[in-house]
Amino acid sequence: MKEKEVEFELHTQHDVRKKSELFDSSRTPAIIMHNPKYPHNVGAAVRAASCFGSNLIIFTGDRVSLEPSNGKSYRLPREERMRGYKDVTLLNDQYPFNRFDKSIVPVAIELRENAESLPYFEHPKHAIYVFGPEDGSIPQIMLKHCHRFVVIPSKHCVNLAAAIYLVLYDRIMKELTQK
Ligand SMILES: C[S@@+](CC[C@H](N)C(=O)[O-])C[C@H]1O[C@@H](n2cnc3c(N)ncnc32)[C@H](O)[C@@H]1O
Repeated sequence: MKEKEVEFELHTQHDVRKKSELFDSSRTPAIIMHNPKYPHNVGAAVRAASCFGSNLIIFTGDRVSLEPSNGKSYRLPREERMRGYKDVTLLNDQYPFNRFDKSIVPVAIELRENAESLPYFEHPKHAIYVFGPEDGSIPQIMLKHCHRFVVIPSKHCVNLAAAIYLVLYDRIMKELTQK
């Protein structure tokens, strides 16, 4: 059954730029979300990014839309609409890797055999962290772009927002303590 399409209301504080914009390593760490299921998944990612030093999120898929259509409009949860998060650029693009030059290092965050365990992972300076959706995982076509593979050593799969928080927090914590 096809998922019902849900939408964001367009908000000025989200810097929705032209499709053609390219980014260099100065926009890292960045986040790629594969086909997120709900607006609140994207909203939580925006909040995590703003809290922990990432200012670029690109998500794929059509289950969450930035463009209002059919008169329907699904707003980001109130907390995610706070002005404080306007530092995060949020884009919807089916080919997010094409937006970056070769200096970036895509890192798949996924439960995978032989993945590096997050506590021992040395974060690349110009990392782009790739996450799967709440109801799936990162598909092979996206994994092929990734240079590194990291697993969070949790007893069970954590939810998407928790995974993003853990990875960004781990990065900042290591930056502060491993100088
Ligand atoms: C909630 S999980 C996916 C759920 C799961 N595939 C399922 O429905 O059974 C959403 C995303 O969070 C990330 N994630 C969650 N737990 C993780 C873990 N322990 N290690 C690495 N990534 C994790 C991955 O990117 C994953 O694709």
